Amino acid sequence: MVDYARKRRIELKRRGLLKYLLGAAVALFSTSALATVLRYLWPVSEAERMEVVEVARLGEIPVGGFKERWSFKGFPAILMRHPEGYKAFAVKCTHLGCTASWRVEGWRKIGVTEPVLFCPCHDGVFDHRTGAVLAGPPPSPIPEIALEERGGRIVAVDWNDPDYVASLPMYQK
Ligand code: FES
Repeated sequence: MVDYARKRRIELKRRGLLKYLLGAAVALFSTSALATVLRYLWPVSEAERMEVVEVARLGEIPVGGFKERWSFKGFPAILMRHPEGYKAFAVKCTHLGCTASWRVEGWRKIGVTEPVLFCPCHDGVFDHRTGAVLAGPPPSPIPEIALEERGGRIVAVDWNDPDYVASLPMYQK
């Protein structure tokens, strides 16, 4: 004998679940659409765009040294002091977004014995002077950060090439 009342209860439960899932999907879509509209109406402020970061005091880092664990525009970054001056890069890997870091011994697998910026996720290797990819799957260099000396400090002021950064999927927020 068919239990119509039970079948009806199950059908109602299914409908309720479907309605709930549909509602959740609509809410999720609406939230991201709203965020896009708000970003359009209130674009990144000049102050936000011009954000500068004091990274180190002049002389704080010895020649050949570096400073990690600071961020620029929300991305992990490294400041290095080479004999010819300071260099800074964002170190969010252009492959899948892991964080690359200073590796003093280089990467012997490719015969490089001077320091590199190394991404441990898939052995991505970047040149510490240019940000260029030396090995591994990263499709493009890590972006350089423009620096200035202000009042005895090294200050990160902008991307060296903002158009390049805008073209990197890993650097979109
Ligand atoms: S995320 Fe850096 S090499 Fe894959």
